[in-house]
Amino acid sequence: MSKRSVRSAPLRGKRALVRVDFNVPLTDDLRVADDRRIVEALPTLNYLMEQGAHPVLMSHLGRPDGERVPSLSLQPVAKHLEALLHRPVALAPDPTGPKAESTAAAPPEMGLVLLENLRFDPGEEANDAEFARSLARMGDLFVEEAFGTVHRAHASTVGVAKLLPAYAGFLVEKEIGELSRLMGQPERPFVAILGGAKVKDKLPMLRKFRERADTLLLGGAMAFPLLRELGADPVGPATDPALVREVRAFLDGPSGKGATVRLPVDFMVQDPRSGTVKEADAMHLAEGWQPLDIGPRTRALFREHLRNSRTVFFNGPMGKIEDPRFAQGTREVLSALKGVPGVHVAAGGDSARALVDLGVEAAFTYISTGGGAAIEFIEGRELPGLAVLPEG
Ligand code: 3PG
Repeated sequence: MSKRSVRSAPLRGKRALVRVDFNVPLTDDLRVADDRRIVEALPTLNYLMEQGAHPVLMSHLGRPDGERVPSLSLQPVAKHLEALLHRPVALAPDPTGPKAESTAAAPPEMGLVLLENLRFDPGEEANDAEFARSLARMGDLFVEEAFGTVHRAHASTVGVAKLLPAYAGFLVEKEIGELSRLMGQPERPFVAILGGAKVKDKLPMLRKFRERADTLLLGGAMAFPLLRELGADPVGPATDPALVREVRAFLDGPSGKGATVRLPVDFMVQDPRSGTVKEADAMHLAEGWQPLDIGPRTRALFREHLRNSRTVFFNGPMGKIEDPRFAQGTREVLSALKGVPGVHVAAGGDSARALVDLGVEAAFTYISTGGGAAIEFIEGRELPGLAVLPEG
C-alpha cells in the first residue's frame, strides 16, 4: 500500500490542515505524560513549515462525546508542542466556527495553529458534512498524519479528505511501511508474543498471526479459554458456546499449516483472601487461586523460542503488569530480545506504554503509534482514513 505523499504537495504559502493524533495520556495535574505521538509528528510539521506552508493542526483527546469537557482541552498539548518545536503554538478556542477560523487565519509568527479538541463537537464522530466543511474552510490541502485514528471514519479523517487535496504525512507512511513489511515479508523465524485480557477481541489478530508467523507465544488472561479447551480448568467453566467454538477452530488451525501455538505451562497465582503468591502448574490450578502472571518455566520456554527468532511482534502483556509482583513474566520475556538481532515490532496502545514502564523499550526496533488502528491494519481490515487517501 502506498499513498500520495506530502512530499508531492505544492506547499508554499498554502494552509495545510493536518490531522494529528495527539490523543496522549495526561497526568492528574494535566501535563503530557507520554509524548511519543507528538514527537513522531514533528518531522512532518517541520517539513511543512520549512516548505513555506502554514499548518493548522487538528486532533481529538479522549472521549468527551460531543461535549466541552475542560479536562480534555488540548491546552497542555499545545504547551508541550511549543516546547518541542521551539515555536509558538496558538490554540483556537473551538474546533470550528468564527473564533477557530480567525485563529487559523492569523497564525503566530514562525508558529502554527492547533484547533481545540475535535470531539467537543458531535459532528466529528458523526462525520457530519457541515462540520467537515467548516474544518475544510481552514485549509487549502489536507495532510493525514494521525495513524492512530485512521480506523475511525470521522469528519477530520474521512470528511475533509474528500473535500481537499489529501496527502499522507511521514508518520502515516512510516507506519504503513513498517507494518506492511512485518506482515508481508518477515525474516524467519517469525515469533508473535500475544497477551492481554480478552480472547474474543483478540481472535482476529490471533488468526492472522497463526497464518503468517512461525510461533505464537500466548499469555495473559487471554490464554485461559485456550488452556481450558486443552483440558485445563484454570478459571472456571466456559460460558459462551460461540466463543468456545471459535477458540477450538483457532487451536485446530488452518489445515496442514500455520504457526505453532505455545501456551503457558505454569502461572504465578494469588490467593485473594490471604494475598499469598505461589507458582502453579497451568493445567492444575487449585480452586480460588487467581493466575496473574506466567510462571518461571513458561518464561524460560518463551525465552528459548525468542533466542533464534529473526522477527518478533508484541501485543498485550503476559500478566497483570500494573502490579509489580506480576510484571516479571512480561519483563523477562521481552528483555530476552535485547541480545537477539532482528526486527522487533510492538503495537497496541497499552503495549507501547508497557514497554516504557517495564524498561524494555530499547529492545524494540519499531513501536507503532497506533492502538486499535495498528491492530486493524495487521488484521488486514480496510481503514477508512487510509482508504480515502489517493494512491501514491
Ligand atoms: C487511540 O488512542 O487509539 C486513538 O487516538 C483513537 O482513539 P479512540 O479509540 O478514542 O477513537
